[in-house]
Amino acid sequence: MAKPTVTFVCNACGASFPQWLGRCTGCGAWETLEEQKKTKGRPLSSNGARPMPLDDVPADANDRTLTGIGELDRVLGGGAVRGGVTLVGGDPGIGKSTLLLQALAGLAAHGIKSLYVTGEESAAQTASRAKRLGAAGGVTSSQNLYVVCETDLEAIDAAVADLAPAALVIDSVQMMRSPGIDGAAGTVTQLREACARLSARAKHDGVSTFLVGHVTKDGMLAGPKVLEHMVDAVLWFEGERGHALRTLRAHKNRFGSATEVGVFEMTSSGLREVKNPSALLLAERPLNAPGSIVAATSEGSRPLLVEVQALVGSSQGSGRRATSGADGARLAMILAVLERKVGLSIGMADVFVNVAGGVRIDEPALDLPVAIALASSFRNRPVHAEIACFGEVGLAGEVRRVSRSLGRLTEAAALGFRKVIAPPGANEDTEVKGLEIVFARSVEEAIEAAL
Ligand code: TYD
Ligand code: MG
Repeated sequence: MAKPTVTFVCNACGASFPQWLGRCTGCGAWETLEEQKKTKGRPLSSNGARPMPLDDVPADANDRTLTGIGELDRVLGGGAVRGGVTLVGGDPGIGKSTLLLQALAGLAAHGIKSLYVTGEESAAQTASRAKRLGAAGGVTSSQNLYVVCETDLEAIDAAVADLAPAALVIDSVQMMRSPGIDGAAGTVTQLREACARLSARAKHDGVSTFLVGHVTKDGMLAGPKVLEHMVDAVLWFEGERGHALRTLRAHKNRFGSATEVGVFEMTSSGLREVKNPSALLLAERPLNAPGSIVAATSEGSRPLLVEVQALVGSSQGSGRRATSGADGARLAMILAVLERKVGLSIGMADVFVNVAGGVRIDEPALDLPVAIALASSFRNRPVHAEIACFGEVGLAGEVRRVSRSLGRLTEAAALGFRKVIAPPGANEDTEVKGLEIVFARSVEEAIEAAL
């Protein structure tokens, strides 16, 4: 018999330690470590599997069903996978329950039996929300969409086995508790048990399963972090407070690309897909205002035009730097490049950078737009409204190539831009109708071309 050993696992970041600590050295959170018993050594039981040549193993067909919510289907990699387990994480109130209820309603409307397990709201609350969303409107959908208010894992497992739905939502996984295991709902042990049980059921019965996971108050995903490796896909549902725009990003996806992004708008009747986010994001753009430029970014396979705004305050300032929707570390680097390579003495000025519309852009192609917006604000000279740009900025002040430049150029042309400032080598021989492409070798050249 292998010897059981004890480890302590942080319920905020998932780091494990041989002894209990008051503070997790992984993420710095206090009193988040929980005891976990683990059996070391070889497993005692075997499923009788034998090694076989990879060529002889029949590949999974990835049996998929469309939820009918195009943005969700794309992020999933082409619909919900039979037997696949997807974790959907996000802040409380961001719209996870709404999204998944709409998804199940979409499936149910196509005759697919679906079960929504709620541990946070009553069945009646879910029903009234579904009515408001129009989800339970059609006869077919309401007949195929089941709801149960339950947090007992055994009871849920039995209900799933009994009802045999093809799609299942567990809202939220942190509320679920196995009566046979010590600890309150939401502890690492309970989360892992819930995830393991539901995954086993999903694989065995071919249920597309969605687990909702909340972010804890200090911004860490309790649950989602420790569950990430146990599930097939992890999606993040995000948005800024006060903005209606929501983005759904694949963080991990065993069945598709992990770079896809879906865009939604929260309305009074639920989440609405945004098919052309660029147009929406640019709708309120001030024309010919210093400090504003349009960036041609690319989220997953989809190009996305956003407005980047910069404000450089007076140089007697305290040197504050603040970003919203852009990376603060890259801003510091861009400021250093502007100072040393372009000769803009932004120095101790207050600097603010904002990606308008409440979206967050993580890719380096945002560097050049940020640099130009800063220069435009600093010199108080507007960038012409028909110019867009993209490109990574290097420490030597050079503009570097980024991926998917043709998609960016085409999107800019489609939205009526006349001129794009792009990195050298980016489709230098490609023509995009109606578009003048300026290939800037350095940040200095790019600023010259823009201002
Ligand atoms: P919800 O899906 O409950 O969020 P989560 O499950 O992530 O906690 O959504 C909550 C917010 O969404 C709530 O503050 C109200 C808003 N909302 C709308 O604006 N329109 C709607 O149709 C619905 C259902 C919710
Ligand atoms: Mg909810």
